[in-house]
Amino acid sequence: MLSFYLVSRVEALNARCTCTLRRNDPIKSILQRLENIKEKHHIYTSRTTTTRTSIINFMMMLNIVHDGARSAIRRLSISSGLSSQLHDGFTNPIDFTTTTGNAMIPTTTILVFLGAVIIVSVILSLIRMSLQTSKDKRPPVAPFGMFECIRYMTSEEQPWFALKAKEKLKGNPDTFILPLPRRPMVTGDATLAREILTDPLSIKPKTYQEFEPFGVGSIFTRNGKYWHARRKGTAPAFSNRHVQRMNQVALERTEKWIEEKLIPWTKSGQSFDVAEEMISITLEAICKTAFEYDISEEEKYNFISNSELVFKEFLTKSINNPLRKYIGRWIPDRRKALQAAGANVLFAKKIIAKYRSNPNPLEGTIIDYLSKNPCYANDDELAADVLLYLVAGHDTTAFTMAFTLLELARHPEEQNKVRNDISNMTTADEWRKSDALKKAIKESMRLYPVSASGSSRVCGREFTTKEGWTVPKGTVVCSHIMMTHRNKNVYGNDADSFIPSRWENPTQAQKDSFLIFSAGKQNCVGQSLANAELHCIIPKILSEVELEVADEGRITWFLTLKPIGVKLKAKRVVR
Ligand code: HEM
Repeated sequence: MLSFYLVSRVEALNARCTCTLRRNDPIKSILQRLENIKEKHHIYTSRTTTTRTSIINFMMMLNIVHDGARSAIRRLSISSGLSSQLHDGFTNPIDFTTTTGNAMIPTTTILVFLGAVIIVSVILSLIRMSLQTSKDKRPPVAPFGMFECIRYMTSEEQPWFALKAKEKLKGNPDTFILPLPRRPMVTGDATLAREILTDPLSIKPKTYQEFEPFGVGSIFTRNGKYWHARRKGTAPAFSNRHVQRMNQVALERTEKWIEEKLIPWTKSGQSFDVAEEMISITLEAICKTAFEYDISEEEKYNFISNSELVFKEFLTKSINNPLRKYIGRWIPDRRKALQAAGANVLFAKKIIAKYRSNPNPLEGTIIDYLSKNPCYANDDELAADVLLYLVAGHDTTAFTMAFTLLELARHPEEQNKVRNDISNMTTADEWRKSDALKKAIKESMRLYPVSASGSSRVCGREFTTKEGWTVPKGTVVCSHIMMTHRNKNVYGNDADSFIPSRWENPTQAQKDSFLIFSAGKQNCVGQSLANAELHCIIPKILSEVELEVADEGRITWFLTLKPIGVKLKAKRVVR
């Protein structure tokens, strides 16, 4: 009889539990019991253990440790006829550690090796950069050092960094090279951006896979057949008919919020955090409309705070310090982030289970299309897209609403224009047609593109900029939406101001430079829903209350552009 202590590698609960395995236990029953332990302790691992041979991998994934573990696992493997896997398993340096902490390959060796690889690649790219001459006809290099550039790109200042780089460069070019290995480029030139984004050979770079804490791909992170099958599968969920149904639910949630919260605040004079409130409405709405799921306050809180932990680790800290990927298990923050990622996957799986147990699910919801799509090999893949829709489907729209309400509160004359225009309108169909509303929303989207850092693509062929510079095949180009939307050559010297009337007679260049939902085959699949919600929730609020700014808060960026701590005060509209 062998006793094993299971220590979750993911450390979901820092679970330490015992599993007793008998020499003659069938593999299937051992696996089942390990799965039960995993489930009981909410240990999430992306791998499934269905085959006889995966037991060793599985145990090591959970970092199973016996007091004297190695020999014990070896004995179990031999007794279970798994000795052939033993060798492979034990030579895996990352997954296996004994109780005494002797890793199979010493950690220092791994660190030295990785350090050497990084240093060599940095030197090579510096050499390549220094070889560039003006004859290359390449865009100029941003006037920052490599480390300064990495720090900016992963900090709150990311969207402004590109504007700053452009300002510092001679002639304020719309396209420049970042001083990083492989020489990625940033462009605020809408023509070049559209050419690259709509080119059939352009694909998303590997960096999108940083969004995959467990290595399971989603529509957002992948290319090719994997992406296409998923995108094609859910695109019909955004047809006119379904969007109208979803929008109706969003409107009902808004009406409830106005009645239960906003109106009481008008009486007490209390201000409210506009971003937090919009997030709450849109998250509830997407859960209900896309997944037929009523999210509780606790689930909302957990989902939002877990997502923040995950994105901070995987999209900021790990990019600043790639070694975190390899030594992550010793870093408490990374362990917490993995735990949070696991909790979110379990939440997505709960949504899936709820849908499956519904005897009469609605047809045409996002979960309905996802579940009927045969391209998903297992529930982990399905959960990745449920999570993607949960994230993408609420915060972008919510922050856009918050920015629009903030700008209208800052500009009472613009607020009145919208209110007057919608004064005789009461339905979503009517609001959608209000010119003043359309202009105000478009202008706020221009000024505050929530996906400010834009869309990055690997060029599948060579491109030439309007300056005649070459963008070689294979270059990663970031179409920087903030740069495009605030381009003074296109929108004039008042490009940084909120002026809805600029959309009365826009030039062709202004229309083309509006790239809020990106462009090309991998543009925003949910834009019809976002537009419908924006043109329905904002007028509903404005028809009930007048808004003024109580606290300017601050505007920051982390994954999306967002207003933090912005507080508004509401007054009942006098009819
Ligand atoms: C104002 C609101 C929104 C804005 C500004 C926005 C913006 C964008 C942008 C710029 C992209 C391209 C990102 C890239 O190339 O890296 C994108 C992709 C995406 N968006 Fe949105 N989005 C919004 C709302 C939504 C909503 C409501 C949903 C779903 C319910 C959604 C789902 C997606 C998905 C799934 C993708 C990935 C598409 C693909 O790669 O094929 N978005 N969005």
